[in-house]
Amino acid sequence: MEQPNDPSPTLLVRAWRAWRHRGGRYAWHKAMRRTLGRWPGFKRRVLYADPREYWTLRGGLDYFREQEGQEARSERAEWVARRISRYQPTSILEVGCGYGKLIRAIRGQTDVPIVGVDFSPTQLEMAKTYLDGINGVNLGLASGARLPFADKSFDLVVTSAVILHNAPPLAEMIRREIVRVARRFAAHNEDIDITYNRYGYDTAAWYHDRGIALAEVGPIPSAPYDSQFCVAELWPR
Ligand SMILES: C[S@@+](CC[C@H](N)C(=O)[O-])C[C@H]1O[C@@H](n2cnc3c(N)ncnc32)[C@H](O)[C@@H]1O
Repeated sequence: MEQPNDPSPTLLVRAWRAWRHRGGRYAWHKAMRRTLGRWPGFKRRVLYADPREYWTLRGGLDYFREQEGQEARSERAEWVARRISRYQPTSILEVGCGYGKLIRAIRGQTDVPIVGVDFSPTQLEMAKTYLDGINGVNLGLASGARLPFADKSFDLVVTSAVILHNAPPLAEMIRREIVRVARRFAAHNEDIDITYNRYGYDTAAWYHDRGIALAEVGPIPSAPYDSQFCVAELWPR
Protein backbone atom coordinates (compact mmCIF):
# COMPACT_ATOMS: atom_id res chain seq x y z
CA MET A 1 0.00 0.00 0.00
CA GLU A 2 1.25 3.48 -0.78
CA GLN A 3 2.51 5.41 2.23
CA PRO A 4 2.20 9.22 2.48
CA ASN A 5 5.97 9.68 2.30
CA ASP A 6 6.63 6.98 -0.26
CA PRO A 7 8.71 8.58 -3.05
CA SER A 8 7.09 6.29 -5.63
CA PRO A 9 6.57 7.45 -9.21
CA THR A 10 2.89 7.86 -8.40
CA LEU A 11 3.71 10.45 -5.76
CA LEU A 12 6.11 12.22 -8.08
CA VAL A 13 3.50 12.29 -10.81
CA ARG A 14 1.00 13.69 -8.34
CA ALA A 15 3.48 16.37 -7.26
CA TRP A 16 4.11 17.30 -10.88
CA ARG A 17 0.36 17.51 -11.54
CA ALA A 18 -0.10 19.68 -8.44
CA TRP A 19 2.61 22.04 -9.66
CA ARG A 20 1.15 22.17 -13.18
CA HIS A 21 -2.44 22.81 -12.08
CA ARG A 22 -1.98 25.14 -9.14
CA GLY A 23 1.60 26.38 -9.23
CA GLY A 24 4.79 26.01 -7.25
CA ARG A 25 3.51 27.40 -3.98
CA TYR A 26 0.66 24.88 -3.88
CA ALA A 27 3.00 21.97 -4.74
CA TRP A 28 5.49 23.07 -2.08
CA HIS A 29 2.74 23.36 0.53
CA LYS A 30 1.38 19.93 -0.33
CA ALA A 31 4.86 18.39 -0.08
CA MET A 32 5.41 20.08 3.31
CA ARG A 33 2.08 18.76 4.65
CA ARG A 34 3.15 15.24 3.88
CA THR A 35 6.78 15.53 4.87
CA LEU A 36 6.25 17.27 8.21
CA GLY A 37 3.64 14.75 9.37
CA ARG A 38 6.23 13.07 11.58
CA TRP A 39 6.92 16.30 13.47
CA PRO A 40 3.47 17.56 14.53
CA GLY A 41 4.73 20.43 16.72
CA PHE A 42 6.97 21.77 13.98
CA LYS A 43 4.24 21.28 11.38
CA ARG A 44 1.84 23.25 13.56
CA ARG A 45 4.27 26.16 13.85
CA VAL A 46 5.28 26.21 10.19
CA LEU A 47 2.11 25.33 8.28
CA TYR A 48 -0.59 26.58 10.63
CA ALA A 49 1.06 29.90 11.42
CA ASP A 50 -1.32 31.49 8.94
CA PRO A 51 -4.50 29.37 8.87
CA ARG A 52 -6.09 31.42 6.10
CA GLU A 53 -3.16 30.82 3.78
CA TYR A 54 -3.09 27.16 4.79
CA TRP A 55 -6.74 26.72 3.83
CA THR A 56 -6.46 28.75 0.67
CA LEU A 57 -3.66 26.47 -0.51
CA ARG A 58 -5.22 23.29 0.85
CA GLY A 59 -8.76 23.98 -0.38
CA GLY A 60 -9.98 22.97 -3.81
CA LEU A 61 -10.62 19.84 -5.78
CA ASP A 62 -7.87 17.70 -4.19
CA TYR A 63 -9.19 18.34 -0.70
CA PHE A 64 -12.77 17.78 -1.83
CA ARG A 65 -11.88 14.38 -3.33
CA GLU A 66 -9.86 13.39 -0.28
CA GLN A 67 -12.74 14.15 2.08
CA GLU A 68 -15.47 12.67 -0.07
CA GLY A 69 -13.42 9.47 -0.25
CA GLN A 70 -13.78 8.94 3.51
CA GLU A 71 -17.01 7.34 4.68
CA ALA A 72 -16.33 8.42 8.29
CA ARG A 73 -16.42 12.08 7.23
CA SER A 74 -19.87 11.66 5.72
CA GLU A 75 -21.11 9.78 8.78
CA ARG A 76 -19.82 12.58 10.99
CA ALA A 77 -21.53 15.29 8.94
CA GLU A 78 -24.81 13.38 8.96
CA TRP A 79 -24.55 12.79 12.70
CA VAL A 80 -23.86 16.47 13.46
CA ALA A 81 -26.68 17.57 11.13
CA ARG A 82 -29.19 15.26 12.85
CA ARG A 83 -28.06 16.45 16.26
CA ILE A 84 -28.39 20.12 15.31
CA SER A 85 -31.84 19.65 13.82
CA ARG A 86 -33.11 18.36 17.20
CA TYR A 87 -32.88 21.94 18.48
CA GLN A 88 -35.28 23.08 15.73
CA PRO A 89 -33.29 26.19 14.82
CA THR A 90 -35.07 28.83 12.75
CA SER A 91 -31.86 29.96 11.02
CA ILE A 92 -28.33 28.57 10.94
CA LEU A 93 -24.87 30.04 10.40
CA GLU A 94 -21.94 27.73 9.79
CA VAL A 95 -18.59 29.40 10.48
CA GLY A 96 -15.83 27.74 8.44
CA CYS A 97 -18.21 25.94 6.09
CA GLY A 98 -15.45 24.62 3.80
CA TYR A 99 -16.86 23.15 0.59
CA GLY A 100 -20.28 22.78 2.20
CA LYS A 101 -20.37 19.18 3.38
CA LEU A 102 -22.13 19.92 6.65
CA ILE A 103 -24.47 22.46 5.05
CA ARG A 104 -25.61 19.84 2.58
CA ALA A 105 -26.20 17.35 5.39
CA ILE A 106 -28.11 19.98 7.42
CA ARG A 107 -30.28 20.78 4.40
CA GLY A 108 -31.28 17.11 4.40
CA GLN A 109 -32.76 17.65 7.89
CA THR A 110 -34.35 21.09 7.79
CA ASP A 111 -35.36 23.74 5.27
CA VAL A 112 -34.57 26.84 7.38
CA PRO A 113 -32.26 29.54 5.93
CA ILE A 114 -28.59 28.61 6.15
CA VAL A 115 -25.59 30.90 5.76
CA GLY A 116 -22.05 29.58 5.40
CA VAL A 117 -18.90 31.67 5.74
CA ASP A 118 -15.30 30.70 5.25
CA PHE A 119 -12.08 32.68 4.96
CA SER A 120 -10.67 30.46 2.21
CA PRO A 121 -11.60 31.54 -1.34
CA THR A 122 -10.70 28.09 -2.72
CA GLN A 123 -12.98 26.34 -0.24
CA LEU A 124 -15.81 28.75 -1.01
CA GLU A 125 -15.42 28.20 -4.75
CA MET A 126 -15.86 24.46 -4.21
CA ALA A 127 -18.87 25.16 -1.96
CA LYS A 128 -20.55 27.15 -4.71
CA THR A 129 -20.28 24.14 -7.02
CA TYR A 130 -21.12 21.50 -4.41
CA LEU A 131 -24.18 23.39 -3.12
CA ASP A 132 -25.37 24.60 -6.50
CA GLY A 133 -29.13 24.15 -6.79
CA ILE A 134 -29.71 23.77 -3.05
CA ASN A 135 -32.29 26.32 -1.94
CA GLY A 136 -32.01 28.76 0.94
CA VAL A 137 -28.23 28.67 1.27
CA ASN A 138 -26.08 31.80 1.15
CA LEU A 139 -22.30 31.76 1.17
CA GLY A 140 -19.79 34.49 1.98
CA LEU A 141 -16.10 35.12 2.45
CA ALA A 142 -15.44 36.07 6.07
CA SER A 143 -13.18 35.32 8.98
CA GLY A 144 -14.72 33.68 12.02
CA ALA A 145 -12.71 36.13 14.11
CA ARG A 146 -14.68 39.03 12.65
CA LEU A 147 -18.14 38.03 11.52
CA PRO A 148 -19.98 40.56 9.32
CA PHE A 149 -23.31 40.09 11.13
CA ALA A 150 -25.26 41.99 13.77
CA ASP A 151 -25.65 40.61 17.29
CA LYS A 152 -28.01 37.61 17.57
CA SER A 153 -28.45 37.34 13.80
CA PHE A 154 -28.77 33.54 13.73
CA ASP A 155 -30.79 31.17 15.87
CA LEU A 156 -27.99 28.59 15.89
CA VAL A 157 -24.32 28.96 14.95
CA VAL A 158 -22.20 25.89 14.29
CA THR A 159 -18.52 25.12 13.76
CA SER A 160 -17.21 21.76 12.65
CA ALA A 161 -13.42 21.21 12.74
CA VAL A 162 -12.71 24.93 12.44
CA ILE A 163 -11.61 26.49 15.72
CA LEU A 164 -8.97 23.77 16.06
CA HIS A 165 -7.12 25.23 13.07
CA ASN A 166 -6.58 28.54 14.84
CA ALA A 167 -3.98 29.46 17.47
CA PRO A 168 -5.35 30.40 20.93
CA PRO A 169 -5.77 34.20 20.41
CA LEU A 170 -7.72 33.69 17.16
CA ALA A 171 -9.68 30.78 18.63
CA GLU A 172 -10.76 33.06 21.47
CA MET A 173 -11.93 35.74 19.01
CA ILE A 174 -13.92 33.17 17.01
CA ARG A 175 -15.73 31.82 20.07
CA ARG A 176 -16.62 35.36 21.22
CA GLU A 177 -17.90 36.26 17.76
CA ILE A 178 -20.06 33.15 17.70
CA VAL A 179 -21.58 33.97 21.08
CA ARG A 180 -22.24 37.50 19.81
CA VAL A 181 -24.07 36.55 16.59
CA ALA A 182 -25.93 33.48 17.95
CA ARG A 183 -29.40 33.91 19.42
CA ARG A 184 -30.25 30.58 21.09
CA PHE A 185 -27.58 27.96 20.42
CA ALA A 186 -23.91 27.50 19.55
CA ALA A 187 -22.96 23.99 18.45
CA HIS A 188 -19.41 22.75 17.99
CA ASN A 189 -17.64 19.71 16.68
CA GLU A 190 -14.06 20.50 17.68
CA ASP A 191 -11.36 17.94 18.50
CA ILE A 192 -9.81 18.17 21.92
CA ASP A 193 -6.75 16.13 20.91
CA ILE A 194 -3.63 18.16 20.13
CA THR A 195 -1.36 15.22 19.46
CA TYR A 196 -2.19 15.51 15.78
CA ASN A 197 -0.72 18.63 14.19
CA ARG A 198 -3.32 21.30 14.80
CA TYR A 199 -4.66 22.80 18.01
CA GLY A 200 -7.17 21.14 20.25
CA TYR A 201 -9.68 22.87 22.50
CA ASP A 202 -12.14 21.85 25.15
CA THR A 203 -14.94 24.11 23.85
CA ALA A 204 -17.43 22.78 26.39
CA ALA A 205 -15.10 23.84 29.21
CA TRP A 206 -14.83 27.31 27.65
CA TYR A 207 -18.62 27.74 27.94
CA HIS A 208 -18.74 26.16 31.36
CA ASP A 209 -16.05 28.57 32.66
CA ARG A 210 -18.19 31.50 31.51
CA GLY A 211 -21.31 30.24 33.25
CA ILE A 212 -23.03 29.35 29.95
CA ALA A 213 -25.20 26.23 30.18
CA LEU A 214 -24.53 23.23 27.95
CA ALA A 215 -27.47 21.40 26.44
CA GLU A 216 -25.16 18.47 25.64
CA VAL A 217 -21.52 17.46 25.48
CA GLY A 218 -19.88 14.20 24.42
CA PRO A 219 -17.81 12.39 21.81
CA ILE A 220 -18.89 11.90 18.22
CA PRO A 221 -19.38 8.28 17.21
CA SER A 222 -16.99 7.11 14.48
CA ALA A 223 -14.78 10.23 14.71
CA PRO A 224 -11.14 9.36 14.02
CA TYR A 225 -9.71 11.74 16.64
CA ASP A 226 -10.50 12.66 20.20
CA SER A 227 -13.68 14.49 19.24
CA GLN A 228 -16.11 16.60 21.21
CA PHE A 229 -19.60 17.70 20.23
CA CYS A 230 -21.23 20.30 22.43
CA VAL A 231 -24.21 22.61 22.26
CA ALA A 232 -24.26 25.77 24.38
CA GLU A 233 -27.57 27.33 25.37
CA LEU A 234 -27.22 31.07 24.93
CA TRP A 235 -30.81 32.01 25.57
CA PRO A 236 -32.12 33.59 27.74
CA ARG A 237 -29.16 35.91 28.44
C1 LIG B 1 -11.60 20.91 8.19
S1 LIG B 1 -12.47 22.12 7.26
C2 LIG B 1 -14.13 21.83 7.82
C3 LIG B 1 -15.17 22.33 6.86
C4 LIG B 1 -16.62 22.13 7.30
N1 LIG B 1 -16.89 22.79 8.55
C5 LIG B 1 -16.97 20.66 7.42
O1 LIG B 1 -17.25 20.19 8.51
O2 LIG B 1 -16.95 19.96 6.40
C6 LIG B 1 -12.05 23.64 8.10
C7 LIG B 1 -12.59 24.88 7.39
O3 LIG B 1 -12.58 25.95 8.32
C8 LIG B 1 -12.15 27.13 7.66
N2 LIG B 1 -11.59 28.02 8.70
C9 LIG B 1 -10.63 27.74 9.61
N3 LIG B 1 -10.41 28.81 10.39
C10 LIG B 1 -11.26 29.77 9.99
C11 LIG B 1 -11.50 31.11 10.41
N4 LIG B 1 -10.79 31.66 11.41
N5 LIG B 1 -12.45 31.84 9.76
C12 LIG B 1 -13.16 31.29 8.72
N6 LIG B 1 -12.96 30.03 8.27
C13 LIG B 1 -12.03 29.27 8.91
C14 LIG B 1 -11.13 26.64 6.64
O4 LIG B 1 -10.94 27.55 5.60
C15 LIG B 1 -11.75 25.34 6.20
O5 LIG B 1 -12.56 25.51 5.08
